Amino acid sequence: MAPQRELTEFEKSIPDYRKRILVSFSKALFLPPIFTVLGLRTLFGQGLSLLTVLLAVLSIPASIIARSQYEEWSQDREAARLGAKSITRVQGKWPGNLDVVLKIVKSFESGYVLQGFADLFEEYKCTTINTRFFWGDQILCMDEGVFKFITTTGFQHFEKGILWHERIDKLLGTGLFNAEGELWKRGRATARPFFAKERISDFEIFEKTSKKTLDLIEGRSNQKQPIDLQDLLSRFTLDSAALFLWGTALDTLDQPLTEPGKVKLGPKGSIAIDGRGEFDEFTEAFERVAVLITRRGVQGDTWPLLELFEDKTEEPIQVILRWMEPLVKKAVAKKEQMKRDGVVVDAHSEDAVFLDYLAQQSDDVEHIRYELVTFLIASRDTTASLLVFALYFLAFRPETCDLLRQEILETFGPEETPTYEGLKNMPYLRAFINETLRLFPAAPLVARTSLDTPLVLPPSTAEKDPLYLPPHTQVMMASLLLHKRHDLWGDDADDFKPERWLDEGLNAKINATSFMYCPFYGGPRICLGQEFALNEAGYFLVRLLQRFQAFRLAPEFMPEGSLPPAHWKGKPGRQAVEKVLPAINFTMHSKGGLWMFGEPATATA
Ligand code: HEM
Ligand SMILES: *[C@@H]1O[C@H](CO)[C@@H](O)[C@H](O)[C@H]1NC(C)=O
Ligand SMILES: *[C@@H]1O[C@H](CO)[C@@H](O)[C@H](O)[C@H]1NC(C)=O
Ligand SMILES: *[C@@H]1O[C@H](CO)[C@@H](O)[C@H](O)[C@H]1NC(C)=O
Repeated sequence: MAPQRELTEFEKSIPDYRKRILVSFSKALFLPPIFTVLGLRTLFGQGLSLLTVLLAVLSIPASIIARSQYEEWSQDREAARLGAKSITRVQGKWPGNLDVVLKIVKSFESGYVLQGFADLFEEYKCTTINTRFFWGDQILCMDEGVFKFITTTGFQHFEKGILWHERIDKLLGTGLFNAEGELWKRGRATARPFFAKERISDFEIFEKTSKKTLDLIEGRSNQKQPIDLQDLLSRFTLDSAALFLWGTALDTLDQPLTEPGKVKLGPKGSIAIDGRGEFDEFTEAFERVAVLITRRGVQGDTWPLLELFEDKTEEPIQVILRWMEPLVKKAVAKKEQMKRDGVVVDAHSEDAVFLDYLAQQSDDVEHIRYELVTFLIASRDTTASLLVFALYFLAFRPETCDLLRQEILETFGPEETPTYEGLKNMPYLRAFINETLRLFPAAPLVARTSLDTPLVLPPSTAEKDPLYLPPHTQVMMASLLLHKRHDLWGDDADDFKPERWLDEGLNAKINATSFMYCPFYGGPRICLGQEFALNEAGYFLVRLLQRFQAFRLAPEFMPEGSLPPAHWKGKPGRQAVEKVLPAINFTMHSKGGLWMFGEPATATA
């Protein structure tokens, strides 16, 4: 058990998940029998007999089923009244669709990523579906029209929602990613100037961090050894973001790396078997929290049953907070110093640092801490994920690697540092990044919950009828599945083909079909770091291919349990060809990391 920590003001303000689950369970378990017993007594003067007990017990499932039937009936009626249709409901064989729940849980544990959801859409021939797991509404969606409505045209009717907050509030608190309403508006306005074009086109930071990263890969290459790129790239994105947002050199790239052959499967990636330092502890805590929060999501609103006595995220959150505390202290001290010196941070001046500005805007140390965690998460794992799968595809498809390298050498030669303008004029590089984010969007699942008005989701290319969305209903939007829809992308939708982006036809179609491609989602809450991430990834890839000419996966160095099982070979889609296990824990990642060899460029390439 984690040691006691004083609750933050924010934590004191949020409802207790235990109370919620206990209240709803008590309602389902005790109310029907009580009413049955009382009813039998009033109507028939029945005392407590075996029959009363039997009926009382039976009243529990009977009332659940009756309530569910009534809910479906009244939703269908409301839908018809609004000129819409109810969203297709999963019809499982067991009560509460338990058989389907079990299938999905199994698929999350050992199947191909989101295949369980993909199978449901396939079976029911739709792009928006209501799982009705445990008799409740839970919408899954891979429909571009619904995505657009939820994130853009119908934005004001949604929030992240109670289920999301229950799972993640403790970690993200008042941070931008988690905030709603006015708090969100203020947070977004505070951060926005720091993502303006002038700022994100300053590439000095990327040069520093890229160079360190590439030196590390080269060091291993010279010893004919592989390197875990997932770990390395997470350090690269973390150090880059720290310099960019906090003006602080975290230098996690200088910390000892994991050694080939001396790792085991961690919560997400590879972790060292022994000799672990403080940074390893932080990384592991970070991974653990992502896994826990994702697992809670898979379990739906029943997850608190497994955490009645202990909030399992508490311990890793404490590790993360401890690790970040020096940063917070530094920001606060600097703020005091600036106050004494009468210095005011101007958000629009070029050398202003986000963290300093944030500290100046808020006297609330707790809020600063939450924003730090938020931006740490938003910037580290996402961009690392993009680069991990980019490198995976460079190894997976050598001809792509050659083509990309050719464009890079033609544009910048073997040594020149990339410029903002230069990066903008590299169609193949952009096509390569687009294609990577199509098949492996770093944030593949985004949830929203409707507020208290019933809504009508507009028709789309796949759903011809408008759909009725009941109030207070969560919708999970899966860009990962939307991006592979054959009706939108063609029969080769599962194949990695950057060339498709060079086809005018596709670009015209994407133009005409908004949200058909949306790795950063869209609308007012669109990813704030989109341009930053694309520049960072583009810069890194240019520097990488100036120094390396080929890559090879090192399956023999992957920890046990992290390679695709043999029986995937005959399956449809990407499942048959994948050489790593893509997984989702908050962001996409490769299970067990990504151990690879890099081949340094020969001088005459
Ligand atoms: C390839 C890299 C990235 C991808 C695919 C990505 C994707 C996304 C997505 C899908 C969202 C929307 C989540 C939602 O609406 O619930 C989001 C939000 C956000 N992203 Fe990114 N992101 C990336 C990199 C970054 C970076 C590098 C930063 C910061 C330096 C960043 C900062 C944010 C922030 C602050 C939000 C919350 C915006 C809000 O709620 O108003 N992201 N990102
Ligand atoms: C990549 O995707 C973006 C966003 O849809 C698009 O604007 C851009 O034209 C695409 N790039 C290429 C080379 O097709
Ligand atoms: C897509 O739309 C943008 C602006 O709306 C336009 O500049 C661009 O040429 C269009 N691309 C294609 C391929 O139609
Ligand atoms: C989360 O990561 C673990 C370990 O890598 C993996 O077993 C699990 O399938 C992942 N979750 C999902 C939803 O992919």
